[in-house]
Amino acid sequence: MLETNQSLKGEKGLELTNVEWLLDHHKTKLQERGETVDDLNLKPGDVVLDLGCGPGLWTHLLAEKVKPNGRVIGVDFSPDLINYAVENLKKDPLSNIIEFQKENFHDVPFDNDTFDLVFFGNCFAYVTDYFKIMEEMRRVTKKGGRIAAKDFDGGLFIVHPIEPQLSLKILAAAAQVLKENPPEPLFDNFVGRKMQGLFLQAGLKDVSTTSYAIQKLSPLIPEAKRYITGNAEWHAKIGTPYLSEEDLKQWRAHFDPNSDNYILDLEEFYFCMLEVLTVGTV
Ligand SMILES: C[S@@+](CC[C@H](N)C(=O)[O-])C[C@H]1O[C@@H](n2cnc3c(N)ncnc32)[C@H](O)[C@@H]1O
Repeated sequence: MLETNQSLKGEKGLELTNVEWLLDHHKTKLQERGETVDDLNLKPGDVVLDLGCGPGLWTHLLAEKVKPNGRVIGVDFSPDLINYAVENLKKDPLSNIIEFQKENFHDVPFDNDTFDLVFFGNCFAYVTDYFKIMEEMRRVTKKGGRIAAKDFDGGLFIVHPIEPQLSLKILAAAAQVLKENPPEPLFDNFVGRKMQGLFLQAGLKDVSTTSYAIQKLSPLIPEAKRYITGNAEWHAKIGTPYLSEEDLKQWRAHFDPNSDNYILDLEEFYFCMLEVLTVGTV
């Protein structure tokens, strides 16, 4: 498993867990993240664990739902991300009910039956030992409490008006390389589709999955432009061994503001990707 934040850097381009990337990701999807947290049906007074909390962006959204007398603890093993979260907390009006701790999510220092909800956001893609981590989540969740995982599935990545043939070639090339040569440390680009099955196999009750189409239209905020461009470049870098120079050139031109083929400012621009929320009861 991953040992340091340094080792989490996406070898093939994006640093998927650095603060700037996570902030762009968060701002791009703030509205949809609000809807996802609404769907967790938390209530004031609930005690929540935000496992793999990174810079603590979901932590605040969760705290909004359990205030004024609930509590949210964010846990991450990256000193940089926890330091950012702690610093940011100083200006958070909910700081009295939020706490951050630097811990490994495989082995958290909480008593059995502590939390009403354990939230695992954008972390399953990095996990090799699914059931071990789910056992740890289950241990710290109250009987009748819930575990919720939010991740994405890279099977859907629509950027219009790029020719679908070119987009699908890029996605297929990246998928082929990821299968033949899985990144070290692991990054599973297709984990969203697996979560319903994982929760059922882990023996959770009342398992349900909701998929969210994350759609972005013109005009895009700067964070969304960086997020979409970063994603596009990640696919291109990963898929390079299976792509022609011409395909790569065409693809990159669509995301290059200096190119005549730049698409992110077009009125008809349309972006769509898929996020998945799976919830089960302990
Ligand atoms: C993609 S980030 C998601 C962060 C946050 N949940 C979000 O969605 O903004 C994945 C997080 O998992 C953390 N992580 C990975 N392995 C971990 C481990 N063994 N223990 C604790 N945190 C870990 C990373 O440091 C990183 O913050």
